[in-house]
Amino acid sequence: MKYPKSYLEEIRQRLKVSDVVGSTVKLTKRGKEFVGLSPFTNEKTPSFTVNDEKGFYHCFSSGEHGGIFDFLTKIEKLTFGDAVRRLASKAGMSEYKFSKLDVETEKKVKRSEKIFQLFFNYCHKNIFTEENKNHLDYLLNRSLKKATIENFQLGFCDDGSRASNHFLKLGYHEKELIETGLFYLHEQKNILIPRFKNRIIFPIKNLFGEFIGCGGRTVLSSVPAKYINSPETIFFKKGNNLYNFNNAKSENKNTDYLLIVEGYMDVVSLYNHDIKNVCASLGTAITDNQINLAWRNFKNIIICFDGDKSGFAAAYRAAEKLIKISKANHTVSFMIMPQGLDPDDYVGKFGKDGFTSLVKKKKDITEFVFEYATKQLQDYSASSLADLEKRLMDIADTIEDVIIKKYYKGFFKNKIFENLIKKNKNKLNKFQLSSKFDIDRLEMSELEVKEFSLCQLLIKFPEMSEKNIERISEIDLSLELTKKIRTALLDISLNGDNCNYEKIKEILLGANIQNIDTFLKFVDANSFMTNVDSDTFVSLIEDYELQLKKIQKDKKIEELEKSFSSNMSEQALNELISLKNSNNL
Ligand code: UTP
Ligand code: MN
Repeated sequence: MKYPKSYLEEIRQRLKVSDVVGSTVKLTKRGKEFVGLSPFTNEKTPSFTVNDEKGFYHCFSSGEHGGIFDFLTKIEKLTFGDAVRRLASKAGMSEYKFSKLDVETEKKVKRSEKIFQLFFNYCHKNIFTEENKNHLDYLLNRSLKKATIENFQLGFCDDGSRASNHFLKLGYHEKELIETGLFYLHEQKNILIPRFKNRIIFPIKNLFGEFIGCGGRTVLSSVPAKYINSPETIFFKKGNNLYNFNNAKSENKNTDYLLIVEGYMDVVSLYNHDIKNVCASLGTAITDNQINLAWRNFKNIIICFDGDKSGFAAAYRAAEKLIKISKANHTVSFMIMPQGLDPDDYVGKFGKDGFTSLVKKKKDITEFVFEYATKQLQDYSASSLADLEKRLMDIADTIEDVIIKKYYKGFFKNKIFENLIKKNKNKLNKFQLSSKFDIDRLEMSELEVKEFSLCQLLIKFPEMSEKNIERISEIDLSLELTKKIRTALLDISLNGDNCNYEKIKEILLGANIQNIDTFLKFVDANSFMTNVDSDTFVSLIEDYELQLKKIQKDKKIEELEKSFSSNMSEQALNELISLKNSNNL
């Protein structure tokens, strides 16, 4: 009885060769590989290597070579079955239980595989006949090279009963022909009809290169359904397979990313332009299983949907769904095709180089989700921003990996602040300062504007200020006025007074602070955010602090330069150099 390939493959994917071999052989990491003393020979200098990425060990002195199962059968002399059981348990998988159904399924799969092979050979030959020249021409007119047509074994299934009769004559039963999904029974006439008749044939294989299904394109615009696909069968599960993955997977020798496109023709056409690390999602929404399949061989996945509304919406749906399986060291990015083009159109127009440059503009899943969510933003009001944050936090909350979840949440919050609040705030300030509050007339320096803005934040949100009282008291303020305002505020919160802005204003006016009316005028002239959450508050404070430090640093440099030009002391020079080199200030 044979184990299903997928079961063995899963064990291989879950275990590193170095972990399995490492419990018998002492391994040392060297570059991408591990080396150790060969367990196959009696050697003093290590000639035994293990490569986790490629999934094998190799012994240079004996020529022994293999994977995890070979290692246990050869070194520990286990039977294959025992090796599988041992490693499955090490991989945290349950033992495979063979059933009667397995025996039958295996027989069925074998027969079907044979039918598929015969069918696809038949169709492939067919497309090169004189009779079907117009279909071959269709493909050639779409710029496909003969080698590409051969590589994908594209074909043509003729009309009528020729194909069905061919198979019945070969001794296959109606029932098993139907089970492959390649034929169906015409109930009234009681005859077998090839499902893909009159269509160009795209054979579909699983990751092991075995045929599992078929896609068919009509070349006539009058025929409904441009493409049809095999129905789901015991071997054809759309959501578990990717078109062309069996070929694309070995491209991981040359590249660390895999492209996932929407259509068969996109895959074929990109291959035709020598872009081979590409597969298609088989006409369904991209599933977790497809991504996990792709991650087996590629660290990075780039999803590339058509440049139309439905392509974009499909990409976004995929992003929202796939973010939950995000994991360290693996990425999913999105590549947006220009309006109206699909990858096939684009590579046809701009060639391999054009396409490759477009790939470079891909967006990471977090960027993509953020941008899409932001597009829906109506305005920059606190409630719209709060809605946006809530939506993004809900999306991030689906992430299974807790560390990734934490970082993605931080990323989103930071982006809201950097891209929306801060930018918007600048817009707001510029507008208001020029129209309502004449900064030039009052000759406010940049430093004054920043310190005033900071104090404004403090008096508008006294509760949050109180929570961050230590941090606020440490900020290096330069102006006497703002220092006094801060002291007054700190007093208020230390007294435990529960204050709102109007009350604070009153206290400040009564505190006999010189020039306090300039500050209050500034505050009145600046309409300000009405609501911020505590994270945003802290980020704003930090941001002002940084900006103030920068202003102070620039001022210091200016002073030092001045004094250095009149008095060239080594101390001033050193101070100047270290100040100029410090980035964090
Ligand atoms: P598209 O309509 O984008 O086709 O469908 P395409 O890839 O650009 O193909 P050409 O260039 O017109 O030949 C993308 C994929 O969606 C599925 C197929 O898998 C197709 O490859 N599809 C499309 C269907 O299943 N049925 C359809 O009627 C259309
Ligand atoms: Mn197309």
